[in-house]
Amino acid sequence: MNTSIDNENTIEPVLLNDWHVVATSEEVVEGELIPSTLMERDLVIWRDSSGQVHVWEDLCIHRGARLSKGFIASDKVVCPYHGWNYDGRGQCTLIPASPNETPMKKAKTVVHYAQEKYGFVWACIGTPEQDIPHFPEWDDAEYKTVVCGPYTFKSAYRALENFVDPSHFPFVHAGVNGLMDNPDPIPPFKVWEEDGVLHSSEVQVTQPYGDPREVPVIAYYAYKIMRPNVAYFKKRLVISDPERAHEGREADRFCTYFTAQQVSPEQSIIRICCAMNFDPQPSDADVRRRQDLVYKQDAEIVDTQRPERIPVDLRAELHHSTDLLGMKYRAWMREMGIKYGTV
Ligand code: FES
Ligand SMILES: [Fe+2]
Repeated sequence: MNTSIDNENTIEPVLLNDWHVVATSEEVVEGELIPSTLMERDLVIWRDSSGQVHVWEDLCIHRGARLSKGFIASDKVVCPYHGWNYDGRGQCTLIPASPNETPMKKAKTVVHYAQEKYGFVWACIGTPEQDIPHFPEWDDAEYKTVVCGPYTFKSAYRALENFVDPSHFPFVHAGVNGLMDNPDPIPPFKVWEEDGVLHSSEVQVTQPYGDPREVPVIAYYAYKIMRPNVAYFKKRLVISDPERAHEGREADRFCTYFTAQQVSPEQSIIRICCAMNFDPQPSDADVRRRQDLVYKQDAEIVDTQRPERIPVDLRAELHHSTDLLGMKYRAWMREMGIKYGTV
């Protein structure tokens, strides 16, 4: 792993200036230093006593030790090597070997943009050019939200493409999200770009265990790819078992907001937030159990794909009309000039 900023020139501005999830909010407990790696940059995340999160380079300006191996005292990060203290702005405020001296201004850590949203800690290691993609159900009182993961995958982009691919359900998730002995044909659907977001029209699939209620459903997925590493679907659900149909309502929806943290071009961490408006609501444990199963099944196959970096030249690999959203995703990334993690 690189320790510093020497890969800065290899990351395109579109990724460098984007917001990326680097932890869940829950992982960043006050008083703890959490190491995280984003595009081979080693970061340290911490939360001060006011609840504010900070994301810095995991590197002490003095002699390059990892700050994440240190500790927090009185809202200061203390380096594990010579004990230099850094305040919430990243400024060194105390050099214990020279306690009466005011540390020079340049004794400062590299501080990144950081914010919390949708149950995640986000960082931008460049200069943010846009907002974090909107997750409409997060603020909707009708919806229960559950953060799930982390799930480790090789390619973030292959994992995201899999997230928007309904034709793998009957095989990878046989008996859960599809029927292997009776796979759904995928009827033609539309994909369009609007305000920099790729949208799909609804895709209909049969799911024997389509959501945490453990009911068979006909599901209608509408997808959005919002950023190279952020996607979303809203699934409309109709309970297909007539005996249990009364458990559902026309308004029932299950949504997932998907994020990928690129640790390196061939290593990623997927974290998702599910939102559902069922009545009664499933428990957090029921939601997580099903997601853990589904993402484990996905990783077992997705991580076997070669090349490990996704090809964005559509002449590589063989595309079918039922892969329309994946194709558009690759072409869209190519247009943006994304080279990091692609071939
Ligand atoms: S390396 Fe951090 S205080 Fe010396
Ligand atoms: Fe899947």
